[in-house]
Amino acid sequence: MLVNATKMLRDAKKGHYAIGHFNTNNLEWTKAILTTAQELNSPVIIGVSMGAAKYMGGYRVVAAMVREMDKGLGITVPVALHLDHGNYEAAKACIEAGFTSVMFDGSSLPFEENVAKTKEIVALAHEKGVSVEAEVGAIGGTEDGITADGEVADPEECRKIVDLGVDFLAAGIGNIHGIYPEGWTGLHIDVLEKINEATDYIPLVLHGGTGIPDNQIRDAIVNGVSKINVNTDCQLVFAEATIKYCAEGKADPTAANAAKGYDPRKLLKPGYEAIKAKVKEKMELFGSVNKA
Ligand code: 13P
Repeated sequence: MLVNATKMLRDAKKGHYAIGHFNTNNLEWTKAILTTAQELNSPVIIGVSMGAAKYMGGYRVVAAMVREMDKGLGITVPVALHLDHGNYEAAKACIEAGFTSVMFDGSSLPFEENVAKTKEIVALAHEKGVSVEAEVGAIGGTEDGITADGEVADPEECRKIVDLGVDFLAAGIGNIHGIYPEGWTGLHIDVLEKINEATDYIPLVLHGGTGIPDNQIRDAIVNGVSKINVNTDCQLVFAEATIKYCAEGKADPTAANAAKGYDPRKLLKPGYEAIKAKVKEKMELFGSVNKA
């Protein structure tokens, strides 16, 4: 059954571990995330960006796919379906479409507008039992074609947003989406400590989970991070495994004719397995195994 993300993240905060948020892009991705969570007895958050949802045919398609696959595969661990970096319209649409959790990302707006819109989304979401993530201080890097410089959030602004009743908060601490550039100076754990205190210890979210050294991930969890977003890592291993399969000639219609290696269920299997291995590695690092 799909649940909102509030309880799983509060439990994670209390237990000093983090829940993985893995972005989905299609059916293979969704199945890999769900089955791995079940095998490891771990709660999980399936994240969907506005661009990925559009690619798959819209928010209702995604909600139906995740909900029905969760049932069809007999998944019993807690699963939240979460909009990633949604604008105001997307957050409203996902609340209506049956998502159990939404992120309203008003970090690119003037702060007062971020406050006003976050407040509206919190009211709409909570009426339907949907959890809300807000953002203060933009995350750097590029996602869905939108590039932002990494910002470090102001703990005072974080407190003001949290006071609106949001369930968990993404606060920039030098983290970046995608591959970290050469010379990246690392997470600002000192600022994270201050944000944790200023926000009364609600669960905090670390975006840009790909490429952060393991020791910094552990430091972030110790200092209040309970949700870690991972996208690029799964994309990289999926691409690598698929390229390898093709390079070995396994999809070649003449050479592989007898084995029908071009059948999409075979062609996409190495990538599917690679995502499963990456999700497992992250769940073990984040400490969410056997926490369902
Ligand atoms: P990465 O693509 O860097 O793993 O970041 C994912 C993310 O933060 C999604 O919101």
